[in-house]
Amino acid sequence: MEIKNVFVVGSGLMGGGIAQVSATAGYEVKMHDVEEKFTAKGLQAVEGSLGKFLSKEKITQEQHDTALANLSTTTDLADASDADLVVEAVFENLDVKKEVFGKLDGICPAHTILATNTSAIPISSIAAATGRPDRVVGTHFFSPVPLMRLCEIIRGLQTSEETMAAAEAWAQSVGKETVRVLKDHAGFIANRLYLPMGCEAARMLEAGVATPEDIDKAMRKGYNLPMGPLELADMTGIDVLMNACTAIYNDTGDPKFYPPPLMRRMVAAGLLGRKTGKGYYDYSSGKQESYWEL
Ligand SMILES: NC(=O)c1ccc[n+]([C@@H]2O[C@H](COP(=O)([O-])OP(=O)(O)OC[C@H]3O[C@@H](n4cnc5c(N)ncnc54)[C@H](O)[C@@H]3O)[C@@H](O)[C@H]2O)c1
Repeated sequence: MEIKNVFVVGSGLMGGGIAQVSATAGYEVKMHDVEEKFTAKGLQAVEGSLGKFLSKEKITQEQHDTALANLSTTTDLADASDADLVVEAVFENLDVKKEVFGKLDGICPAHTILATNTSAIPISSIAAATGRPDRVVGTHFFSPVPLMRLCEIIRGLQTSEETMAAAEAWAQSVGKETVRVLKDHAGFIANRLYLPMGCEAARMLEAGVATPEDIDKAMRKGYNLPMGPLELADMTGIDVLMNACTAIYNDTGDPKFYPPPLMRRMVAAGLLGRKTGKGYYDYSSGKQESYWEL
């Protein structure tokens, strides 16, 4: 099926990024949020990001201008009535997502694919809010969307092969490498591997086995990873990591996702990583510095 019009619900960090890469790839994009102040903030972020790409000569002036011309904003969900593909990136909350999908199901034509960027909510639970579960699919992007190359395409229990193929082709057309997640299991592929490593690194630190520097160095030098698990947690936000682990633990009961006490204490103390100036490392000087004493 041909996708021309893309409607993005949620103009936050992920929605803005998804709207940006879609508009840059030539789709007609409408970016939605509940209030104009949120769409304005989202649009400003897209303009800022496109401006950086332009100044680094990653895109031409023409590509920059075309991308912005392809993008409009709205606070009216009914404007999704001409969408071929809707990508939802609202808060990570099942009730909020179900409400959005229920409304979209009434607004959008029968052919419209409804995609969700959820990190951990089962696709099948979101699809249950619609009368078209065969046309509901997961498209899990990574942050920052314009830079990160991966998009996981997730099949819910009733997602059709046609929907999987269309979502996959669209994600590739906006510049992403895709992988297929064939079972609707929390964590999909990448987070199912990364989150337990983040928890285990915190458990190791808590037990005094090694310093944060040596835990990260072991994974960088021993396995050629670009970043170790603790510095990556600081970049992602330790609260974001903990919430994702908790959601998967609640869904599966699998203890490897249970956030260890140190992680929970750090979140309670506001030691969330780079965004608060301190996490497993201290960033107050502007550089990543050690402060942990074992
Ligand atoms: N942040 C990440 O690194 C990341 C990575 C992958 C997936 N995700 C997932 O993407 C989704 C969005 O995350 P985010 O980080 O962009 O969040 P965010 O808080 O930056 O943005 C969410 C936006 O949704 C809007 N919103 C809330 N309810 C809405 C509604 N009913 N209708 C329209 N808009 C609504 C909010 O006003 C906000 O602007 C979540 O499901 C999250 O789990 C996030």
